[in-house]
Amino acid sequence: MRRSSAGLCGCTVSSTNPAGEAGADTVPMDTVPMTIIRGTIRRRAIVRQLTRTFERSEASNGRSLPIRKTGRGIWAATPVRVVAEAATILDELGLLDEKHQGGCVIDAGTGDGRVLAVLAALNPSLVVYGIESDRALQARAVANLHALAASGLIDSTRVHLCEADYRDVETYEARGIALHDVGLIFNYPDGNERHLARFVAEHCGDNTTLCLLTHNRTLEIDELELRSRHDVSDGTRPPWRLSLYRPQTAGAIGR
Ligand SMILES: C[S@@+](CC[C@H](N)C(=O)[O-])C[C@H]1O[C@@H](n2cnc3c(N)ncnc32)[C@H](O)[C@@H]1O
Repeated sequence: MRRSSAGLCGCTVSSTNPAGEAGADTVPMDTVPMTIIRGTIRRRAIVRQLTRTFERSEASNGRSLPIRKTGRGIWAATPVRVVAEAATILDELGLLDEKHQGGCVIDAGTGDGRVLAVLAALNPSLVVYGIESDRALQARAVANLHALAASGLIDSTRVHLCEADYRDVETYEARGIALHDVGLIFNYPDGNERHLARFVAEHCGDNTTLCLLTHNRTLEIDELELRSRHDVSDGTRPPWRLSLYRPQTAGAIGR
């Protein structure tokens, strides 16, 4: 069940909301508290601004398709709206709760920085680390996140980018990140997901959730235990899939 307060893309006010946008026709306007409406409008504005920033970044890259092979995997970009919708689901499950996620979230294979940007902009209290092995993408992520920090959308003191291998324990030790306490590791699978799952099983704690967000709806891994699956849509079909995995012995996911 979605909390309407966190409904980024799904404000449920009738016909036209105060931003002049059409919404789903389910709840009469006068029953929705103003704080929820303001929160929803604010989140939509943030997602629009992030979408523009990353569209500009892609355009300046000069490639016809935002996809390429990197030294360790394949870079392809998740649409900002899909990341934002996934962040809403994670938030509703309590997985972006500061207490629950042990102080930081890791984006394993951060590409141009968009997942970090969405998480940091929508959940300003989070500390987020993006780890990317490809130097050119890392530089692009730095530029994108600097631009967002300069426009006040994210707090640069809470967003950290590392040019490194996310499957090397030294990457975390060098930055003082206790892998055992990490609550959430985010990844867009590019063929390395099984290695990452094995790494999580070997080095992370029972409360670490591996969160795979992918357009590939047939993807399965058996190195960790699947705890839940969620469809994530930016309005196009078929929806993306968010799969949440935990070590076999761990407890239930959720509040
Ligand atoms: C499919 S892209 C996802 C980019 C971004 N997270 C997004 O959703 O738009 C996967 C990225 O993981 C990076 N990658 C793959 N294996 C890695 C590793 N072991 N360490 C660091 N980065 C890695 C690739 O270079 C690539 O940029």
